[in-house]
Amino acid sequence: MSHAEEHEGTRRDFLYYATGGAGLVATGAAVWPLVNQMNPSADVQALSSIRVDVSGVESGTQLTIKWLGKPVFIRRRTQEEIEDGRAVDLNDLPDPIAQNANIDGAAPATDENRTLDENGEWLVMMGVCTHLGCVPLGDGAGDFGGWFCPCHGSHYDTAGRIRRGPAPRNLDVPVAAFDGDELILG
Ligand code: FES
Repeated sequence: MSHAEEHEGTRRDFLYYATGGAGLVATGAAVWPLVNQMNPSADVQALSSIRVDVSGVESGTQLTIKWLGKPVFIRRRTQEEIEDGRAVDLNDLPDPIAQNANIDGAAPATDENRTLDENGEWLVMMGVCTHLGCVPLGDGAGDFGGWFCPCHGSHYDTAGRIRRGPAPRNLDVPVAAFDGDELILG
């Protein structure tokens, strides 16, 4: 190989890589506007609506997730919790309204009106005390077998209804629906 050929070869290689590099840049430039276009809707969707796989949530346990910066309790109630909730006399409830965003705003706070499914297994609520916004403790905490807010002593029953303490309202049930094993929030 002559000196000139060697030089030529080197130059060709250089040109080849330079072209390859330019190609990559061009590809990147072509992809960017598309991603940018998609971002707003993806962001908005992520903010307002999420899907949660609840197939692993066993009876008697609660999954807590964060949604819109707030905790959401997803509890799969035991038969006993369901029966306890359904046995409560509505006259004993400080807040007689269901506070369930999925049904009529004036619906009474029966146990059935608080859960997402007909069997009453799935109770989905914002994990935010309706007094001053602390996160209540779950797993049967408090005097009514549901949740207890230690900040100022609010007791919620197995349907998340306020029973004693300063909290004025039942824990809020957000807009939610099932799609198979997935719970869609928002
Ligand atoms: S914030 Fe829960 S009782 Fe006050």
